[in-house]
Amino acid sequence: MGRPAALRFEGDRARALEAIYLTPDIVAQRETVLEALDPRPGERVLDLGVGPGLLAAAIAGRVGPGGSVHGVDLSADMLAIAGARQHVTGAAPITLAQGAVSALEAPDGSFDAAVCTQVYEYVADVPAALAEARRVLRPGGRLVILDTDWDSIVWRSSDDARMARVLDAWDAHLVHRALPRILPEHLAAAGFEGTVVSVVPLLNVGGDPRTYSGGMRHLIAEFVTGHGIGHAEIAGWLSDLEELAERSFFSLNRYLFRAVRP
Ligand SMILES: C[S@@+](CC[C@H](N)C(=O)[O-])C[C@H]1O[C@@H](n2cnc3c(N)ncnc32)[C@H](O)[C@@H]1O
Repeated sequence: MGRPAALRFEGDRARALEAIYLTPDIVAQRETVLEALDPRPGERVLDLGVGPGLLAAAIAGRVGPGGSVHGVDLSADMLAIAGARQHVTGAAPITLAQGAVSALEAPDGSFDAAVCTQVYEYVADVPAALAEARRVLRPGGRLVILDTDWDSIVWRSSDDARMARVLDAWDAHLVHRALPRILPEHLAAAGFEGTVVSVVPLLNVGGDPRTYSGGMRHLIAEFVTGHGIGHAEIAGWLSDLEELAERSFFSLNRYLFRAVRP
């Protein structure tokens, strides 16, 4: 199913992503995910595609010293960033492992809850990954997923045709550019029940660079120049976004799924 994800979460890109995850936009998104997951004291929680470990650290604070958090990620560089976070007194221990979310090493039924934010859209075989999430959850265990639908993007530009070319090229950064709309049927097919869906919008109006779109424009520029967009065109795209400044407008929807393993 699909082609392999093209965006590699390594080196400077891993650090850039961590900086974006510290913007108020993504701090608020993390709070929303945390509320949906509702980790309780003593629970064992799995973070699938743990990335820089910011969500895992927040979960560890909620489950406390009687619980545990385990993070899995393909990227050694992401795991290094996650592993460098200081342990907070009163928080659960966090263990990390390198691996794919579609082939987990954990035994059956070993977690009370699992969370997967902005990861399944990069995974070629989503049914296999959901089957693994179901396998490692105990009966009654909760799964929370967040993914983006890139058709929902609204981004002001002085050259809409150029913006469309850049976003077309950006589509190659992931496997599924519009996963949320088909995720409910994948969840049902994997044996999850009670799926509840909500929308988590990102909205940046004005020129503040410390926003999701303020950070992402540089990651997008770097990626698309290797994927069919020339240096001059991307320079023009970036300077247009700079010049729009206070007139900037960016909006993108993420979708949050809660489901239960019966
Ligand atoms: C956009 S980041 C999201 C990180 C984190 N979940 C968050 O929201 O803060 C995507 C992460 O998924 C990881 N990843 C992508 N495909 C994966 C796979 N098949 N198995 C495990 N991790 C994967 C990447 O290495 C990267 O750290």
